[in-house]
Amino acid sequence: MAYEVNDTDLGDSQVAALLFEYMPKIAAEYHTDSLLLLMADLGRRIVQADRCSLWLIDEERKELWTKVAHGVDELRIPLTAGFVGYSLKTGQPVLVEDAYQDSRFDRRSDIKNGYHTTSVMTMPMESEGRVMGVFQAINKIGDNVFFSQKDLEHLKLISVYSAKTIESAIRAQELERKAKELESAHMELIRILGEVSEFRSQEVGDHIHRVSEMAKKIARYYGLSGKQQDLIYYASLLHDLGKVGIPDMVLKKEGRLTESEYVQMKSHAVIGRTLLRDSKTDLLRMAADIAGAHHERWDGSGYPDRLEGENIPLAARICSVADVFDALVCPRCYKIAWSEECVKEEMKKNSGTYFQPELINILMDHWEEFYSCYRPDGDFVKKGLLPRVK
Ligand code: C2E
Ligand code: SIN
Ligand code: SIN
Ligand code: FE
Ligand code: FE
Repeated sequence: MAYEVNDTDLGDSQVAALLFEYMPKIAAEYHTDSLLLLMADLGRRIVQADRCSLWLIDEERKELWTKVAHGVDELRIPLTAGFVGYSLKTGQPVLVEDAYQDSRFDRRSDIKNGYHTTSVMTMPMESEGRVMGVFQAINKIGDNVFFSQKDLEHLKLISVYSAKTIESAIRAQELERKAKELESAHMELIRILGEVSEFRSQEVGDHIHRVSEMAKKIARYYGLSGKQQDLIYYASLLHDLGKVGIPDMVLKKEGRLTESEYVQMKSHAVIGRTLLRDSKTDLLRMAADIAGAHHERWDGSGYPDRLEGENIPLAARICSVADVFDALVCPRCYKIAWSEECVKEEMKKNSGTYFQPELINILMDHWEEFYSCYRPDGDFVKKGLLPRVK
């Protein structure tokens, strides 16, 4: 077949101008569906076609699919259908003047769409030696009736460009999915570790989870971002992880500890920090900060490092308020629970010495919200974080 030279076809500089117009939009788009539409639009303008579609292979369903503007659902055709199927099978482009004169044409989509196809171009989309789909242009518009050899070259150009772009978008989506998977595996691990330390610490009910809930609430009122609040929640689950290194005789002792037992007990902070210290993730680094510094005090009289004020990591300052609050409200193997008034007095009394004043202000300003979690009809009972007896 011979093709005329069309003088109304776009010149290379006009094609380049269109590419430059679309590139930023395409680069900013991560959704495959929207990319398909943008690419089809670019294709339509470059080869001056009435319609353009990018057909992508769905390996699982053994079909080709595409997206059309304003179409809710995607369009699907068999892998072998028509010119598109031919290009896919042979790896060759197609350039025809009248589809109805060509035995490869599958007229079913014309019938379905109420459309009349005449001139058609199809081009396999290849990236890294793999055919991922077919770029199709239908019906030349403008002065020319047919697509030209030049159009086919331009279609090749945008096919390569599209294949690379879509491939990298799909890879980015895949990476994001893997990262999410990894994150939830990570959270699961933290939860299990938290439960291990809970099991060791022999405290009433779910001390660990209650502390995490309280710490998150405090973090929210302190104005930290949702992301930070979540980090604090999960990291606080590990605040007493170091108790796994404390012998039962000390840990489960009913009644007061001797001086030397208390020294031993206090080593749980360093043990916890050491277990978590070499971690690379934000979450476990925060967990190491909390485990290591949740018994530091605002006035520098705490342990293990006698850190003072803002030298104590914020997450640890927050967790320490939640930890002591819960330790006072709930009974321990070594003591009974305190009354609401006594807890409130004790927390207030320790503002500025044990605790950062701003954090105690938050607790006092929202006392009812914090304390009501522990009431018989409160959140913690509902969530199963407290035994129903009070
Ligand atoms: P925990 O039970 O989670 O208590 C956390 C923190 O809450 C304690 O840190 C302490 O600062 C505060 N706290 C708990 N109960 C009271 C209390 O009755 N009065 C006051 N003022 N503060 C209280 P601390 O003291 O560093 O203790 C760390 C851990 O050592 C405790 O964690 C607990 O597991 C254990 N522990 C502390 N004292 C005793 C004790 O007398 N007997 C036993 N068996 N264990 C103790
Ligand atoms: C289509 O459904 O448009 C593809 C079939 C063909 O290329 O003939
Ligand atoms: C305790 O009463 O259990 C320890 C006293 C303290 O360090 O606040
Ligand atoms: Fe502790
Ligand atoms: Fe604790």
